Amino acid sequence: MRLPKAGTIEIVPSILSADFAKLADEIAEIESAGVNVVHLDIMDGHFVPNITIGLPVVAKLRKYSNLVFDCHLMISEPEKYAERFVEAGANHITFHIEATDKPEKLIDMLHKLGCTAGICLNPETPVETIEAVAPLCDMVLVMTVEPGFGAQEFMPEAAKKIVRVREIVGPEIRVEVDGGIDAETAPTVVSYGADTLVAGNAIFAKTDRIAAINAIREACK
Ligand code: DX5
Ligand code: ZN
Repeated sequence: MRLPKAGTIEIVPSILSADFAKLADEIAEIESAGVNVVHLDIMDGHFVPNITIGLPVVAKLRKYSNLVFDCHLMISEPEKYAERFVEAGANHITFHIEATDKPEKLIDMLHKLGCTAGICLNPETPVETIEAVAPLCDMVLVMTVEPGFGAQEFMPEAAKKIVRVREIVGPEIRVEVDGGIDAETAPTVVSYGADTLVAGNAIFAKTDRIAAINAIREACK
């Protein structure tokens, strides 16, 4: 399982708004909608003011899904845990530029472990902070809400940073966007240059998840 090569629009459901008591079933449902990647939000109650899932849950889910696991680490000291997330079944790991002062080292470590690497920017973090490391990554993640919670309002100003990120990374590196993405906001971020759209609430808060995924897909065409 590997992050799809750049050149396609990927709708990436975030399980943050799913029913955590039946995660395997929730993931199977979105797998049947033809998505390739699922976004797993890992929060430590320190880097962000919320706690979600960790290593044992990722490892158990791995047995039930063939989707690419896009693990979004909203944790302090990501370098301490990255290897264990790869062992647990992460195929792609994104960490925050605000959480480490040695991003190059971590990107290199992930690549040596056979995992693709992503760097993430909070809404108020300037693009310049990732300018040097973004070209070393496989994907750059632009947050369009403050990390920590699902179902928040899309931040249009933060989304504008996608344009500059795309200029820096060129066409071969994915640009992912996370926060407040639905059929209304998706076309804007795609027009800015995003190709990987995380959506939590817009999918899992709906009874028909497949229709919700298709609505976002259609809106991007
Ligand atoms: C927020 C998470 C997101 C979240 C997005 O910190 O990183 O992945 O699930 O949720 P929505 O799509 O509901 O804004
Ligand atoms: Zn996320």
